[in-house]
Amino acid sequence: RVVEPASLVIFGITGDLSRKKLIPAIYDLAYCGQLPPDFDLVGFARDATNIKIRLRESVIEHARTPFDPVIWEGLIARLSLVEGSFDDLDAFARLAAVLVDLDHRRGKVGNYVFYLSVPPSAFATVCNQLAEIGLNRPQRGWRRVVVEKPFGHDLSSSRELGQVLEQVFPPSSIYRIDHYLGKETVQNILALRFANGMFEPLWNNRHIDHVQITMAETVGVAGRAGYYDGVGAARDVIQNHLLQLLALVAMEEPVAFDADSIAAEKIKILSAAELLGPLAQTSARGQYGPGMANGHPVVGLTGEAGFPLESTTETFAALTVGIGTRRWAGVPFYIRTGKRLARKATEIAVTFAPPSHGSAAVRTTAVSNVLVFRVQPDDGIELHIGAKRPGGGMDIQPVSLGMDFRSVFDQAPEAYERLICDVFRGDATLFPRREEVEYSWRVIDPLLQYWADNGRPDVYPAGSAGPASADRILTESQRTWRSL
Ligand code: BG6
Repeated sequence: RVVEPASLVIFGITGDLSRKKLIPAIYDLAYCGQLPPDFDLVGFARDATNIKIRLRESVIEHARTPFDPVIWEGLIARLSLVEGSFDDLDAFARLAAVLVDLDHRRGKVGNYVFYLSVPPSAFATVCNQLAEIGLNRPQRGWRRVVVEKPFGHDLSSSRELGQVLEQVFPPSSIYRIDHYLGKETVQNILALRFANGMFEPLWNNRHIDHVQITMAETVGVAGRAGYYDGVGAARDVIQNHLLQLLALVAMEEPVAFDADSIAAEKIKILSAAELLGPLAQTSARGQYGPGMANGHPVVGLTGEAGFPLESTTETFAALTVGIGTRRWAGVPFYIRTGKRLARKATEIAVTFAPPSHGSAAVRTTAVSNVLVFRVQPDDGIELHIGAKRPGGGMDIQPVSLGMDFRSVFDQAPEAYERLICDVFRGDATLFPRREEVEYSWRVIDPLLQYWADNGRPDVYPAGSAGPASADRILTESQRTWRSL
C-alpha cells in the first residue's frame, strides 16, 4: 500500500501509451483504492483539447476494472492540465506553479513523479527543462522520474541517454519501465526456481539441453510506423523484454528479494551473455508479407500506412545467445519474436537433456522433459513428461502437468498498475538498471550491425510461424522450435 501523498505528472498525456496503458492503470488503482493519499494527476501536452472525454473513452475500453462514473469523476477532479511544448520554459514554470499550488491546497510536501511518456528524442529536452526550473531538486519530499523504452537505439545512444538522465536525476530516482517485469507470471519465474527445492539442482548445463524464449504476436504494426519503422523487432522487444526474461531464467539466487540484490544477479548474467555465431546460421530476421490474421486477410508491412515500400524493418527476429558462466556453458538460449504470427504466445520453455542411461527400451522412445512458463495468454506453468501408454510394451507418450494462474489465484493487477504503484512506493525491484539496459544493447548490437550490412529480411506470410531461415537455426543441432 502506498502511504505517502504524491503527484504524478505525465508528459505526453494525450499519446497512445497514456491512453491505452497509463490512464487505464491509474483508473484501476483508483478503483482498487491503491492510489497515494491526496493524489494529484497533472497532464502536460501541447494540445489538451477534449482530453477528459478522450481519457474517459480509453478507460472504458482498456481498464481492467469495471467503469464506475463516481470513481472516474473523483479521479478526473484531481487532473490539472498544463499546455505547452517541451521546449517552452514558460510551460515548465507553469507546471511548477501548479504543483506548488496543489501542495499548498492539500498540505502536501512535494513528492513528484515525472512520467516521460514521450519519444526518446524528447527525453533530454524534458529533463533539462525540469532542471532549469529546479523541479528535479526537492526542497521537501522526493522526485522520481519514469522513462519508457526505447532507451536508445544502440549501446552508444543508450549511454548518452543514461548520462543525460543522470545529470538531472540521481540514479536511485530513475525508474526505467519494462512492463514485462510487472507481469505476475514473469515474477513467478523466480518463485518457481527459488521457492521450490526440486528445480535448482537440475538448473544447469548438466541437465538442461537448451532454452527457448518466444514472444509471438498476431497483431501487426498498423498505426505505429512513426515508432516502429527503422526500429524493428530486435530493438522493440528483444533488447528489453526478452533479455530480461533470459536474465530471470538464468540468474543465480539473489541474497534478498530486493532491488539491489536482484539487479546484481541480473547484471552478472547480462554481462556474460553474448550472441552465438556465425550469425548467418544462428540468427534470422523476417518481415511479414500479406496473409491472414485472426481469419481475415491482411496487408504486409510495406502495405501498412507510413511504411515505405523499401522498408527493411524486421517484424520477426530470432537469435541464439550463450552465457559464459560455469552453470550455462554450452547451453543455447534461442530467442524469437514476431508480429503477425500464427498465434499469440509468450513463453519460456526449458528443455531438459534426455536420460543418459537406463533401460534401452525406454530410452529409445523417451520424450523430452520441458518446463514451460506461459507468460501469456493463459498464464501458467506446464511440465511435459513421458508416460507409458496402457497395454503391452514400453510405449511412451508425452503428457503434460499443468497449472493455470487464473484458476488458482484472483485476477492479478495489470503490469502497469503494479509498476506505477511501485514507483509511488519507491521500490525499484522491477525496474531494469542502466547497466542492465547497456549490457543488453551490447548483446544485440553486433546483430543489428550484421543486419545493416547484409541484405533484407526474409518475407513470411502473415499468419505463419515466421521465415524458414528461423527453423534452420535449430535443425543444425537436431532441435526444433516449439510449434506456434
Ligand atoms: C511493447 C512493444 O513493449 O510490448 C509492442 O513495443 C508489443 O510492439 C508489446 O506489442 C507487447 O506487450 P504484451 O504485454 O502485449 O506482450
